[in-house]
Amino acid sequence: MASKSKTVYLCDECGYESPKWLGRCTSCGAWNSLKERKISVSPAGASPERKLAPDSKVVTLKSVTASNEERLLCGIGELDRVLGGGLVIGSLVLVGGDPGIGKSTLLLQTAGLMAENADILYISGEESEKQIKMRADRLGSGDKDIRLYCETNIDKILSAAENLKPHVMIIDSIQTVYSEEISSVPGSITQVRECCMMLMKYAKQSGTAVFIVGHVTKEGTIAGPRILEHMVDCVLYFEGERHQSYRILRAVKNRFGSTNEIGVFEMEGDGLHEVENPSTALLMGRPKDTPGSAVVCTVQGSRPILAEIQALTSPSGYGNPRRMGTGLDYNRTAMLLAVTEKRLGLNLQNMDIYINVAGGLKINEPATDLAVIMAVVSAYTGKPIPEDVAAIGETGLTGEIRSVNLIDKRVSELSKMGFKRCIVPGGCKVKAPDGTKLLYADNLSAAVRLCFSGKKEENV
Ligand code: TYD
Ligand code: MG
Repeated sequence: MASKSKTVYLCDECGYESPKWLGRCTSCGAWNSLKERKISVSPAGASPERKLAPDSKVVTLKSVTASNEERLLCGIGELDRVLGGGLVIGSLVLVGGDPGIGKSTLLLQTAGLMAENADILYISGEESEKQIKMRADRLGSGDKDIRLYCETNIDKILSAAENLKPHVMIIDSIQTVYSEEISSVPGSITQVRECCMMLMKYAKQSGTAVFIVGHVTKEGTIAGPRILEHMVDCVLYFEGERHQSYRILRAVKNRFGSTNEIGVFEMEGDGLHEVENPSTALLMGRPKDTPGSAVVCTVQGSRPILAEIQALTSPSGYGNPRRMGTGLDYNRTAMLLAVTEKRLGLNLQNMDIYINVAGGLKINEPATDLAVIMAVVSAYTGKPIPEDVAAIGETGLTGEIRSVNLIDKRVSELSKMGFKRCIVPGGCKVKAPDGTKLLYADNLSAAVRLCFSGKKEENV
């Protein structure tokens, strides 16, 4: 049956669809953002766009064969782990991050390594062939067999891909790609969503694994309100401070592996290098016998990583004391400072307080609460925390220390890294590893006593 077409109006900002033109989008409130678009509607009701394979039919799950062989190794161990053990063929992976964080570098390096045993098509809408060549030379993949195509028209990209049939295609970046059928500018929500949809159909039909680079917009999401995240199979965020050399690749969605898995890299003159032991790297350069530094073990995905929390307190010169934190959740930090003030009787209200997770790591788990508070207490009192002491625990509003998950993993990582004493929540049951003593604390005052007096509790 012939399909009919109808006219709809799509919002460039949020993708809202309206049957008639409106001056202001009723969904996101943006002015003059609705653009006319023709879409075809099939009489059967099912839109042809939804079909992932041309010969879709009903099958039994038992009869479908899929195994782990259907993964391609990227050659970068950290990336393979974040992907859940390699790149699944026919999958669509979104690599997001701030501009300049190293997304193109990571993917060009991956392309160089994968080119040994796979066909790679690298599409760039941001750089010319010469620029890519110069960068690839620097990364040591300049003479690899990578196909380059500097193009932004999605139809041309897809027809090139259909001719070349690569195993892996890299699109750098989705914000530069556009479809002629849509009137809005490249990078707008409608364009990005439509192009991503076309790439997904292509990936599923052809079995080509597609990496898509997406710049994070100023709201902190990829091209607006998370429009791509639900479409793709994996979402990896590349994060870190641009002026620091460590970069963290984090899986926030993965249909083929665990999320929150992280890979740690270091950006050097010749590209990104894997950091195999992040705990050592993140604790390197930790000041000795200096107040305001506490160590905690955080679990990122399946991996325990030690982090140093630093605090600085100084008398405030203005009426409003400053509270600054990098790498931690701001509201949680404000709550911890209030608990510290109230339960430990510290007079923090006239103090500027700065808290920082060293190395550019971002931590968002309550297990670090106790270490944050200990760092603040240490900074405030001027007493250093002994070098071999670490603190793990969630802190509640009454100053109690609550148990945290995966405590045995955390304690054994601390023990491996040479920590002799570990302050843990009173309620947790864990066997102390050889050479490490566990000091149990039920509340903040007990933790402070254990942390600073050097008194050891023989609970081992
Ligand atoms: P890039 O991959 O272009 O970032 P993105 O694609 O996410 O926008 O990375 C750019 C930064 O990385 C740039 O500031 C320079 C730095 N860099 C290095 O330090 N070493 C290198 O070998 C390369 C290629 C880049
Ligand atoms: Mg780039």
